Amino acid sequence: NACVRAVVRAAIHHGFEVYGIRRGWHGLIHGDVIRLQIKDVSRIINRGGTILYTARSKEFMTEEGQRKAASTCKFLGLDSVIAIGGDGTFRGAQALSKFGVNVIGIPATIDNDIGCTNYCLGFDTAANTAIDCIDKLRDTMQSHERCSVVEVMGRHAGFLAMYVGLAVGATAVLVPEHPVSYEELVEKIRKARLNGFSHYMVVVAEGAASGDQVAAAIREATDLDPRVTVLGHIQRGGDPTGRDRVAATKMGYLAVDLLKQGLTNRIVCTKDGGYTHVDMDEGLATHKQMQRMEMDVLDAMTGL
Ligand code: F6P
Repeated sequence: NACVRAVVRAAIHHGFEVYGIRRGWHGLIHGDVIRLQIKDVSRIINRGGTILYTARSKEFMTEEGQRKAASTCKFLGLDSVIAIGGDGTFRGAQALSKFGVNVIGIPATIDNDIGCTNYCLGFDTAANTAIDCIDKLRDTMQSHERCSVVEVMGRHAGFLAMYVGLAVGATAVLVPEHPVSYEELVEKIRKARLNGFSHYMVVVAEGAASGDQVAAAIREATDLDPRVTVLGHIQRGGDPTGRDRVAATKMGYLAVDLLKQGLTNRIVCTKDGGYTHVDMDEGLATHKQMQRMEMDVLDAMTGL
């Protein structure tokens, strides 16, 4: 929402006419667009979700669907599309650009897994929500001297789990990028117990294993009876943090500025502490690696 607002404001500031496409690519295929004026994006900078709705479109994955979307653009006179989302959204934008529509991508996914940018909108809000939930969980786990297994989102990427795990001082963090065996996990819990701890917090990215699988493994190897919490879509909602609002505002502004300069097929991104942009094809070909340092820090902080 904060990004939609920024795009609308920046675009009107530069003399563009703006339309919001409802329900993502699905809406573009079916011409579901609404004119957006300054008042339409008033008081949404502080709201989670999107006033434009969103959807996963199977139809848009086909060439036929993409062709239909491009002809909707032509029919309605939409010369450029600013697409806010993750990898799937950008692949859609890439396909649309092949049909002559100008496209700019703005990375927004709590997975923070877009290769060409350090930061994706929504990550900070999701991480802080998860941290807050786990802090609350810890109170009861500590009092009851239990083991807690918290499953966070991240179907293919563990950036959210890693960040949250470090922030809550987890006993162990499981991410898909660096699979650890259940023996190693149990060893971390054993060491924690030898160091005098009587409650344990395990954070697992859904792409590494399910919370239930992890709990079952711990139950089998120890005398603990872990409790599982799946944070699920809770992480994708709520008021955005200040960091997300400002990043969304800057990225939205930059996306419009790129169109004003006559550029297309670019992804707005953050690099070396600043905002920049890269070619969409190159950006999508970049794979984001988990930093070795993160694993080293995690190793040093857990299993003691
Ligand atoms: O792609 C972002 C993401 O949040 C993943 O981490 C998660 O697995 C997925 O979306 C959930 O998608 P859905 O809401 O369609 O279940």
